[in-house]
Amino acid sequence: MASEVSPSSNGLPAEIVDGMRMIREDFTRFLLGYQFAMQEITTKLEILRDEFAELHSDNPIEHISTRLKSPESIVAKAKRQDVGLTTAAIGEHVTDIAGIRVVCPFVADVERLVEALTNQPDITVRTLKDYIRNPKPNGYRSLHAILEVPVYLSSGPVRVPVEVQFRTVAMDFWASTEHKIFYKYEGDVPPDLRRRITEAAATAAQLDEEMAELYRTVHGRPAGAADGQYPVTPPISDDVLRRLTED
Ligand code: GTP
Ligand code: MG
Repeated sequence: MASEVSPSSNGLPAEIVDGMRMIREDFTRFLLGYQFAMQEITTKLEILRDEFAELHSDNPIEHISTRLKSPESIVAKAKRQDVGLTTAAIGEHVTDIAGIRVVCPFVADVERLVEALTNQPDITVRTLKDYIRNPKPNGYRSLHAILEVPVYLSSGPVRVPVEVQFRTVAMDFWASTEHKIFYKYEGDVPPDLRRRITEAAATAAQLDEEMAELYRTVHGRPAGAADGQYPVTPPISDDVLRRLTED
């Protein structure tokens, strides 16, 4: 009987308000996992950056930015993809809820970072799209990786996907200005402008090559190769290990 359900202050039955609160709390917890996964991968990247900077005065990262998709755009994307609006379905199909962008000086830095990160045993590579070797038709270049990382919550570990985009400064300049210039066309860019933006992408790619070439000329070794050693930490020899563990 309707009269047994006591109405809440906003006029909705208390059961519905409780149900909505539970859904909201569930979603907040769900999003928190992505926040933590993003922190985990950011820390891994910062450690790699600091290691290279400390040991080789050779910083492979210009900057790192992170963003968490808003609940509104998560729901909008799930609807676009025709995915059910449950956290299980969203978690399975919407893989860019947590996003990290890593901007590097040289393409070689992108390569060594991706290699060092994906070689870590707790990271699983879900997908790797190399738009540097295979640029999109408009000229867009970047390396996109969807990486899964374990997050240790009080209730146990959960594996959470994070989309990591790696690019050079030149690629980042092109991508962010392209977006600023063309967002109003919603994908329907006039052919002449499309040709010009693709040419600009080729110019950015040439700039990447020229700067790498200049680096090689000045330093006598390729950019991103540090001093020829990778991994940076050499294995500890049996001798040293024995001495360290004596006493
Ligand atoms: P989304 O539904 O946009 O996530 O596409 P997707 O899942 O097929 O992934 P894709 O790897 O194609 O691109 C994902 C992200 O890369 C976008 O959200 C942008 O940040 C970036 N990106 C891809 N293509 C372009 C492009 O042509 N221009 C710019 N500026 N960014 C792009
Ligand atoms: Mg995406």
